[in-house]
Amino acid sequence: MAFTSRTDTLMKYMSLDQKGSVIAEYIWIDSVGNTRSKSRTLPAKEYTPADLPTWNFDGSSTGQAPGENSDVYLKPVAVFADPFLGSPNILVLAECWDNDGTPNKYNYRHECAKLMEAHKDRKPWFGLEQEYTLLGDDDRPYGWPKGGFPAPQFQYYCGVGYGNVVQRDIVLAHYKACLYAGINISGTNAEVMPAQWEFQVGPCEGIAMGDQLWVARFILNRVAEDFGAKVSVHPKPMKGDWNGAGLHTNFSTEEMRVEGGMAYIEAAIKKLEARHADHIAVYGEENEQRLTGRHETGAIDQFTWGIANRACSIRIPREVGAKGYGYFEDRRPASNADPYRITHAIMLSCFGDAE
Ligand SMILES: *[C@@H]1O[C@H](CO)[C@@H](O)[C@H](O)[C@H]1NC(C)=O
Ligand SMILES: *[C@@H]1O[C@H](CO)[C@@H](O)[C@H](O)[C@H]1NC(C)=O
Repeated sequence: MAFTSRTDTLMKYMSLDQKGSVIAEYIWIDSVGNTRSKSRTLPAKEYTPADLPTWNFDGSSTGQAPGENSDVYLKPVAVFADPFLGSPNILVLAECWDNDGTPNKYNYRHECAKLMEAHKDRKPWFGLEQEYTLLGDDDRPYGWPKGGFPAPQFQYYCGVGYGNVVQRDIVLAHYKACLYAGINISGTNAEVMPAQWEFQVGPCEGIAMGDQLWVARFILNRVAEDFGAKVSVHPKPMKGDWNGAGLHTNFSTEEMRVEGGMAYIEAAIKKLEARHADHIAVYGEENEQRLTGRHETGAIDQFTWGIANRACSIRIPREVGAKGYGYFEDRRPASNADPYRITHAIMLSCFGDAE
């Protein structure tokens, strides 16, 4: 598809008066882990999820429903400011529900929210580090030489300067847009493989973690659309001696964050160890290409943990080891994992189900 952006022309229309209406962009997660969205007009007011109408879409066009029973319902669950259209317009994250009143097959939020509610007294905090790769029209990493490869990995991580990083505009625009929207974005940096970047979202408590990461992903795809690049969250976009992409997950509960917390951290790690295979099963597709024990990863079939060791399943940061309390980092999730499934699995392993 040819890339055309006419931002200057668009700006003429952006300041037009909306005559007392709000544009609400409903966002949902489809059957392959992409976001989809569509917009509707609502009367101007301050919206919470409870005030927003349930809507629907044709699930047979997104792989979420059969053709003969194709309506999937969109139930609003979180509201953000719309960084593309500005105030008073809003982004509305919605859960997908089927006609028979059950959660859609790809709705991983519903169970996650129940479990977070059941364990909310533990005040679970998460932080996610979303790695991603920008691709050009040829579906190769943006700016890589045609038919060839860039210099081996070294100068790209946190890189500065022409030849070291590409498309910083996308990264900056995404950062600003996330702050505007009200996402707890906590930082960003260029990653080890050229055209690979990372942003971090957190701390977020409970179900807000998945909500915020999904909306941050939606915003990234919208921004990259403006700049003519594709976003890949594949965990190993280039085979060979190139780093993969992960979704490292920081986790703590209230008791881990205070003096004496290390005992709770170690107890949680033991519980994660016992269910390693269950975690790998929900930590992203094709993660075996990334978790090889090389390129700062642990091997997929082994559970390992250590202080300040990046070749582990679980890493306890050095300052946490020194202080004796804080949080730990689960390094297993792939960049294409669903944050609802990651945070659900961690809570389930550590604290059991909602009953
Ligand atoms: C997770 O913890 C690491 C340190 O181990 C920190 O550098 C990173 O910013 C944290 N990320 C988030 C999203 O909280
Ligand atoms: C965002 O981070 C702040 C602390 O920096 C925290 O108080 C707040 O609860 C976080 N928001 C969500 C939705 O978790």
